Amino acid sequence: MRTPSIGPSRELGQTKANSSPPKFVVGVWKDRLSIRESVEMARQLSSLCQGLMASRFIPAVAPAPFAAVPVCDALKGSPIDVIYQDVHWSAGEGSYIGSTPIRVLPELGISVALVGHSERRRFFGETNDDIHKKLSGLIAAGVHPILCVGDDVDDLNERRRILTEQLHGALCPSRGDQINISQLTVAYEPVWAISTWRTARSLPSGEEVADMLALTRQVTAAVTSCDTSQTSFLFGGSVGPTNADEYFANPGVDGALVGGASLRADSMATVFEAASRAWSE
Ligand code: PGA
Repeated sequence: MRTPSIGPSRELGQTKANSSPPKFVVGVWKDRLSIRESVEMARQLSSLCQGLMASRFIPAVAPAPFAAVPVCDALKGSPIDVIYQDVHWSAGEGSYIGSTPIRVLPELGISVALVGHSERRRFFGETNDDIHKKLSGLIAAGVHPILCVGDDVDDLNERRRILTEQLHGALCPSRGDQINISQLTVAYEPVWAISTWRTARSLPSGEEVADMLALTRQVTAAVTSCDTSQTSFLFGGSVGPTNADEYFANPGVDGALVGGASLRADSMATVFEAASRAWSE
């Protein structure tokens, strides 16, 4: 299995500094920026992040698919990588109008893709089975998936049940079909913490985030019966300049997906700097 490369020089998998799996901090722009705005945002970020120390984590953005090519161009030579927001599960050639087949990602120079975001599940009816097919196809193509899971409940038993269902369905739906968890990253994103869907609820503390990721790690180990030490676990849900330091200070937190706060170059750059402080040499 080849180790995919990220950007022009980065090696994904075992990082140079130690043998821990890759940490990611990803600004997820969803479909909120036009092509022109995406390129402008990429340029601003690139200029703000010129001196960013990022040897122990991967700073990245996930532009809307329609802006992926010009954003890749705008970020050439910067420390920031480009991640794809979603793919179609078809690995070979197919007839699936409007979708992005996995095989074009290497052609774009993109070696990481999000899979199973709660908004894909909610608005596009994506099932665990679809997600499983995407994970298998991406890994076979040498692309590193970031598998998103998440619930919308308070009750711990119910949260465990939902996570078990999502992780089991995505990672090992049937015997002989198990995904190698050292070849992906898991992002836990409670729907109630995502800025667009948040109610009056207060944001989780660093300790609560660490507990939620510990539960996600535990459930991943339980459903796969595998060691999770080579798998990174990220948090997503209103991560931004005010809580990034607190979240990243916890050893169980391997990075974040950043939505709303990534729509301003200065706040995204501040989150990258927090990561740089947390994971400096
Ligand atoms: P948010 O979004 O940071 O705006 O809460 C995160 C996400 O949806 O991935």
